[in-house]
Amino acid sequence: MSNPSILILPGDGIGPEVMTEVRKVINWFGEARDIQFDVSEDLVGGAAYDKHGVPLADETMAKAQEVDAVLLGAVGGPAYDDLDFSVKPERGLLRLRKEMDLYANLRPAQCFDALADFSSLKRDIVAGLDIMILRELTSGVYFGEPRGIFEEGNERVGINTQRYTESEIERAARSAFELAMRRNKKVCSMEKANVMESGILWREVATRVAKDYPEVELSHMYADNGAMQLVRAPKQFDVILTDNLFGDILSDCAAMLTGSLGMLPSASLGAPMANGRPKAMYEPVHGSAPDITGQGKANPIACILSFAMALRYSFDMGTEADRLEKAIEKVLSDGARTADLLGEDGVDPISTSEMGDAVVAALQASL
Ligand code: IPM
Ligand code: MG
Repeated sequence: MSNPSILILPGDGIGPEVMTEVRKVINWFGEARDIQFDVSEDLVGGAAYDKHGVPLADETMAKAQEVDAVLLGAVGGPAYDDLDFSVKPERGLLRLRKEMDLYANLRPAQCFDALADFSSLKRDIVAGLDIMILRELTSGVYFGEPRGIFEEGNERVGINTQRYTESEIERAARSAFELAMRRNKKVCSMEKANVMESGILWREVATRVAKDYPEVELSHMYADNGAMQLVRAPKQFDVILTDNLFGDILSDCAAMLTGSLGMLPSASLGAPMANGRPKAMYEPVHGSAPDITGQGKANPIACILSFAMALRYSFDMGTEADRLEKAIEKVLSDGARTADLLGEDGVDPISTSEMGDAVVAALQASL
């Protein structure tokens, strides 16, 4: 059987820097564990625009459809701010999500004990936090039609459309319940059924799907209250099920609970391919961070944890994923800190590449 294939799309800003560290980890698995991947690399975002005039070339899109997993760094940066909307770096990312039909976006927010003091919330509110946001990723206001800026009388009107079919809600909801079955068996569905018809339908479908999972406890919350509850008492949640736009916002909020946006991985999964693996893309939740690009300050852990999710969800290597996550926990509890994780006086930050090396050393020590 051929090796599992991975397409690496480092993208822009700190994307290439953090991806270099992921490559060290991938190489370690090859050398020390004899787990080989066929790794190829290509361009996305501004980097693709610079070469091809589009944020994702058709050939790259085709490659992404063929591999077992895509690993993406980050897209965007100030150099591309004035580009036409249709070729902005973000369009490359959205095209990947849409054309690969990656409807289930898993955004775990786990607070490593060593980092509980870095959260903007008090330690006892976040210590031990382990929640999972299931964000619908291929529909809703991100893609709904009509959309655009139109002339209306003597002024312009900007239009986006929140649109969800029952089947779109249903498949996202199923993913959330499946996750909950392997966790603490609670799903909290968040929408705005008090003001949006799409929210009413969302609630109905989530309730219907719940009947197939009698062991899982389903609750509903308006998304604004959900945001408030996330910062008031985040540990009340297990799996949060929500739409594309609310999920975008709530997941950034959840990320900060853990101490740093530089810690949060994500997996975007679609339907199973012929080989039984789901279509999949893995990426850190953080962006391209132009303010620190090229300075060796970026935290590679979110991207390395995204690779751990690939091991778990694409390659059925849960034990190796555990090994990698434990190595990261060890590195942090030993006191290694990139600049985003500093707070204590007298601790010198280590660089992006030193953090990558520390993770590899901890992996090696785990054997
Ligand atoms: C995210 C990002 C993207 C989104 C941007 C870069 C298009 O914020 O993945 O959360 O809005 O989905
Ligand atoms: Mg976002």
